[in-house]
Amino acid sequence: MSTQTFPDLIPLVNKLQDVFSTISSNDLLDLPQIVVVGSQSSGKSSVLENIVQRDFLPRGSGIVTRRPLVLQLVTLPEPAEGKPAPEEYGEFLHVPSKHFYDFSEIRKEIEAETQRVAGGNKGISRMPIHLKVYSTKVLNLTLVDLPGLTKVGDQPTDIEKQTRNLIVDYISKPNSVILAVTPANIDLVNSDSLKLSRQVDPEGRRTIGVLTKLDLMDAGTNALDILSGRAYPLKLGFVGTVNRSQQDILTSKPMTDALKSEADFFKQHPAYRNIAHRCGTAFLSKQLNNILMNHIRDRLPDMKAKLNSMIGQTQQELASYGDPAFTGKAHRGSLILKLLTKFANDFVASIDGTSLEIST
Ligand code: GDP
Ligand code: NA
Ligand code: MG
Repeated sequence: MSTQTFPDLIPLVNKLQDVFSTISSNDLLDLPQIVVVGSQSSGKSSVLENIVQRDFLPRGSGIVTRRPLVLQLVTLPEPAEGKPAPEEYGEFLHVPSKHFYDFSEIRKEIEAETQRVAGGNKGISRMPIHLKVYSTKVLNLTLVDLPGLTKVGDQPTDIEKQTRNLIVDYISKPNSVILAVTPANIDLVNSDSLKLSRQVDPEGRRTIGVLTKLDLMDAGTNALDILSGRAYPLKLGFVGTVNRSQQDILTSKPMTDALKSEADFFKQHPAYRNIAHRCGTAFLSKQLNNILMNHIRDRLPDMKAKLNSMIGQTQQELASYGDPAFTGKAHRGSLILKLLTKFANDFVASIDGTSLEIST
C-alpha cells in the first residue's frame, strides 16, 4: 500500500480519543499515541514546543507538569497563493468551542486546569488535559507530555512513586510509542527514560530516543556513536536536538531563529555535518509522524476487534435498561452507542472501505 493512497489515520484516531475521553473510558481502547518520557529538566517541554513551533507550555523550576497533557496536533492546509496563512490556534476539550489564538493564554489555561484538579501544591493527578493545536506548521501527531521523573534522596518520595507509576502505566500500553528524552550532557547509562523504557519495551521496538542539549556537551566530545545507533539498540533510532537554552528563553529568542540555529549547529558541526539531514526538530517531527502512522497501521486489526466488542457490550447494556424513553441512564447509553458506532464506522471505512455493519 503506498502512502499516497493510504488515508491519514491520525485525525481519525484523534476523534476516537475525544469520544473516549468524553465517555471517560479512555483506557478501554488503548489508542496509539507518542508518550514523552524523561527526567525533570531533560528538555521534554522544549522538544514539544519546538515541534509545535510555539511557546505554550508552563515552565519553572520544580514539578511543572502535574497532569498528563494529551496534545493533538492538527495540520491546517496551506492557503492558496496570495492568501494569508490561517491563524494558528489551540482548543481545549474542557473549554468547548473556544479558540485560543493567544498562546500565552493556552499556557495560563493549562496552569489553571492543573491547579484546579491537581491542587495548588506539588500533587500530581492522573486526569489528562486534552489540547488540540491547529497550525499550518505542524504535522498530524498525538503526543502525551507527562510529569518528569525525579529523584531527590535515596528513598523515593510518594510523589516520585506516583509519577513513576503514571509513566509506567502510559508506556506499558502496547499502542504507545515511547519518546525517551535524554540530555546529551549526561552518560547514557544514567538515562532514567531509557532505563524505564527498557523495562516495558526490552527489545527497543517502540522506543525512539531523543538526545537534547547536544550544544552542552564537553568540548571535544560528541554523540555520533549514539546518533548512529552504535551505542544503544533502538529500532526507531535516536534523533539529536538543540533546543533553546534558559538564556534564549529569558531573552525571548523567537522560535524561527531557534530552529534556524539548530539547523546551523548540525550543518556546521564537524562530527554531525554528514548526518545533519537526520538531526534536529524538523526531522524529528517527520519521523514521529511516520512512526505514528505505521504504528496505527500495525495495530489496526486489534483496535478494530476491540471497538467491535465495545460496541457489542454497550448494546447489551442498553438492552438491559429496558424502555429507553424512561431512564436517563439508557439515554446516555444510547448517545454513547451512537457516537461510538459513528466513529467506528467512519474509522473502519476509511481504512479498508468496509464497515462494522452495526447500526443503532
Ligand atoms: P523538562 O523539565 O524536561 O520539560 O525540560 P525543559 O524543556 O523545561 O528544559 C529545562 C531547561 O533546559 C530549560 O532551561 C531549557 O531552556 C534548557 N534546555 C532544554 N533543551 C536544551 C538544549 O538543547 N540546549 C540548551 N542549551 N538548553 C536546553
Ligand atoms: Na532521562
Ligand atoms: Mg516540562
